[in-house]
Amino acid sequence: MGIAVYRLLTGEEIPLEFHRVRVVQRTRLIPAGDRLSAMRRAGHNTFHLPSRDVFLDMLTDSGVNAVSDRQLAAMHGADEAYAGSESFVRLQGTAEEIFAMPFLLPVCQGRAAEDIICRALVRPGSVVPMNYHFTTIQPAIAACGGEIAQIPVDEALDTGNPHPFKGNFHIPRLARTLGRERERIPFIRVEACANLLGGQPFSLQNLRQVRLLADGHGIPVLLDASLLAENLHLIREREPECRGMDIRALVREIASLCSVIYFSGRKLGCARGGAILCSDADLFERMKDLAAPYGGFFTYGGMAPRDMESLAVGLEEAMDPTAIRHSPDCVAYMVRALAENGIPVVIPPGALGCYLDAGKILAHVPRERCPAAALASALYLTSGIRAMERGILSSARGKDGQPIPPPLELVRLALPRRTFTLSQVRYAVDRIVRLHGMRDLIGGLRFAGERERLRLFWGKMLAEDGWDGNLLSALEAEG
Ligand code: F0G
Repeated sequence: MGIAVYRLLTGEEIPLEFHRVRVVQRTRLIPAGDRLSAMRRAGHNTFHLPSRDVFLDMLTDSGVNAVSDRQLAAMHGADEAYAGSESFVRLQGTAEEIFAMPFLLPVCQGRAAEDIICRALVRPGSVVPMNYHFTTIQPAIAACGGEIAQIPVDEALDTGNPHPFKGNFHIPRLARTLGRERERIPFIRVEACANLLGGQPFSLQNLRQVRLLADGHGIPVLLDASLLAENLHLIREREPECRGMDIRALVREIASLCSVIYFSGRKLGCARGGAILCSDADLFERMKDLAAPYGGFFTYGGMAPRDMESLAVGLEEAMDPTAIRHSPDCVAYMVRALAENGIPVVIPPGALGCYLDAGKILAHVPRERCPAAALASALYLTSGIRAMERGILSSARGKDGQPIPPPLELVRLALPRRTFTLSQVRYAVDRIVRLHGMRDLIGGLRFAGERERLRLFWGKMLAEDGWDGNLLSALEAEG
């Protein structure tokens, strides 16, 4: 297995790579003045920054992970057949071997899976209990007339609480919801390494309890496995009875507790596309019908065959304990370095990246002035790093058309798998620490234009009282 985390003579622990980097891509850090112009053009929304103006792109881990040599090689062997492609057969076979579920529907990405599942199972008036929502599942449920019920453990919403499994359900509360709403519940959704809680995992024991409750009411359990690889690692690291457990046995047990599994292949498997897996032949037939109008024939479902090849190998590689721990180990390194410097960051370290608590860092910026978006903007201005707002700007709107403020106001710095070096991570930490020291100079953002839906993607804003320029001048004055 090797030494995935190495302790230096200084006592510092570093994540050690068990891969070689053979292909690299040039990136550049444009001058501060150009970053200011780029950010103003982008309306302080990092989604509007052109990639060429970004030095370290920590927007997301979705579809931007480094592929392995084996994935690349497999892509050359793709079978482009419209129907019955060999690439589909290989993907389906690999998934069946890993998850022991016989039916697989490829989809163009995770949200397409959510759309199909919701159209198959959610009805007007439905309630879907979940450990926590993700940006894409809530609208999919709402579009079918349903609503969500988020039931995480209490510790989940306290960013400074070190609970090892903040992705767990609050079991007594789930039991009460099932008892009260049973008729309205089409399924319970469990999200591996709950993204918007800070990439926080569930424990195997909690999933067993969820399944037991669900069985009592005959309700299916559905797993969003997009961040399953990291959840597997964190279970093996943090759950005493699972320490060092065989990874395939662990996946089999998790899968046996679920009726449907879906995932974004842009995360799990470091590829593209995604899939829905199930063992229920009737449900599979219904989902195939729903997939066909947009996704195409069910043996590709909107995926390119080369991506099915890449995903098959990627899933296989996700069964390698050394390979899957590299990303959470890098996240842990970064979170620890930030916490040691007094930066409010979600602890304990989870999957995907670091989540800064913008609500605490910019406590002086009112919620309606989008503190997380302001912090993400300031970070780009001072470092060239692109992060993602995960606060009020990302939130859905209620029936009255007003945004529903989410409990957390976060800025997420994603670490795409195998993409950044430790020096780049250390640069990011250093710039954040420096920015934190100047946080009083960061102000709020005012909308210059927003849309009814997906403000995160389309919203454009202005910095109040020109704090953006003042921040850069202060930084330059410091040298
Ligand atoms: N589920 C989870 C937990 C996700 O994190 C995502 C996407 C999806 C579903 C939807 O998958 O993008 O392939 O349609 N997360 C990306 C992110 C967008 O940046 O965290 P998709």
